[in-house]
Amino acid sequence: MSETACFLLDGNEIELPLIRGSEGETAVDISTLRSKTGAITLDIGYKNTGATTSAITFLDGEKGILRHRGYSIEELANNSCFLEVAYLLIFGELPNKQQYEQFETEVRRHTLVNEDMQNIFKAWPTKSHPMGQLTAMISSLSSFYPECLDPNQSKEDQKLTMIRLVAKMPTISAMLYKKSIGHPVVYPNNSLDYVSNFLNMTFKHITEDYEIDPIVVEAMNKLLILHADHEQNCSTSTVRMVGSSNANLYSCISAGIAALWGPLHGGANQQVIEMLERIKSDGGDATKYINKAKDKDDSFRLMGFGHRVYKNHDPRATIIKKSCDDILNKLGVNDPVFDIAKKLEETALADSYFIERKLFPNVDFYSGIIYRAIGFPIEMFTVLFALGRLPGWVAQWREMRDQNQPIGRPRQIYTGYAPRAFVPMANR
Ligand code: ACO
Repeated sequence: MSETACFLLDGNEIELPLIRGSEGETAVDISTLRSKTGAITLDIGYKNTGATTSAITFLDGEKGILRHRGYSIEELANNSCFLEVAYLLIFGELPNKQQYEQFETEVRRHTLVNEDMQNIFKAWPTKSHPMGQLTAMISSLSSFYPECLDPNQSKEDQKLTMIRLVAKMPTISAMLYKKSIGHPVVYPNNSLDYVSNFLNMTFKHITEDYEIDPIVVEAMNKLLILHADHEQNCSTSTVRMVGSSNANLYSCISAGIAALWGPLHGGANQQVIEMLERIKSDGGDATKYINKAKDKDDSFRLMGFGHRVYKNHDPRATIIKKSCDDILNKLGVNDPVFDIAKKLEETALADSYFIERKLFPNVDFYSGIIYRAIGFPIEMFTVLFALGRLPGWVAQWREMRDQNQPIGRPRQIYTGYAPRAFVPMANR
């Protein structure tokens, strides 16, 4: 017998179906509520609203669990490479050797971007933020592959669009960096693996050899895996929302990148380092800044702290903190802001304000320190997040399309004026 929940409104009782997830989560299916009662639910910020069912990622914020397609984030981060995790997210299973090689070959075939895209770069001021450029570049791919505009594309053509995105994102990201320092672009070298290719395009100086450090490749693979998907977060929900209107995939991803840019979401990784630098130049007093974060009259927030869903610990932050220690040691980098970050974390975690509100370091708290040790400027940090999140966005978009979900269109409760007569301008 199917399970139901009872809903009582103005003396009328109706039954609504219960939906149970495979990990025991419960949802009340309210899709018939309005037609049965005239009422809607109101949940500003979607703090308590499931927008979809999904088989991609499981997250338990109370226990600090994150799994993709059933595999724990710890196991994936320690044993897999980014491209393999991308395959897992998008296609649903870990690839066997032959499937992986085929996927890698397909991705390699599409790493080049149309030469005309470089003309777009030329129009931007050198100092424009790479995230703004990235949204435009990804969106502009729809002009180079206009067949993607057909919402009834065959599955094969859809797959080609997904492959193109995975293949071209590192090329475009590296081009952004080269543009920011005024250097000529380095073309893809398809004899390299995905991450090495990206590092080579980013850091190789056109006139010199560049030695790819396996420690950096390993660190980048791990960081990208840790960002690869995070179920219905702000940018992913944006990708799904835009995609629900049958907009092409490039536009959906571009919209996701725009959502990610915000400092409350992926943009926090840039803000964290800026905050740590500010604390350092102000004498390194962690307690002073913890007090500022607690002060409701002060707009300062501890960036890289707190999460909508994690109320215990963010498992990604735990892995990144450990990696940060390892990588800084291996690369022989001594970054004083790492000590400030650890001190801030220690002070915050012992403070009742942070304990009561269940505020812990999130994925962004330590990632920037590693990016910086590798050599990325801080403006590139959120681009790196986008590079990591891309397979998640693509997988979520594909799932939504495969489930043939309807256009996303929330309702509202109107709180404006009741009807009133128009007043001519002369009488206002
Ligand atoms: N510093 C100080 N106080 C905080 C912080 C913080 N970083 N985060 C939350 N709080 C406080 C709030 O002031 C609020 O206090 P109150 O109950 O006294 O009003 C309480 O904790 C709950 O915070 P909300 O903002 O209501 O929580 P919400 O779930 O809406 O926001 C968010 C989550 C946006 C991540 C928030 O914690 C934040 O702004 N963190 C800093 C930015 C950041 O690191 N973002 C990256 C998130 S991870 C990601 O997107 C990849």
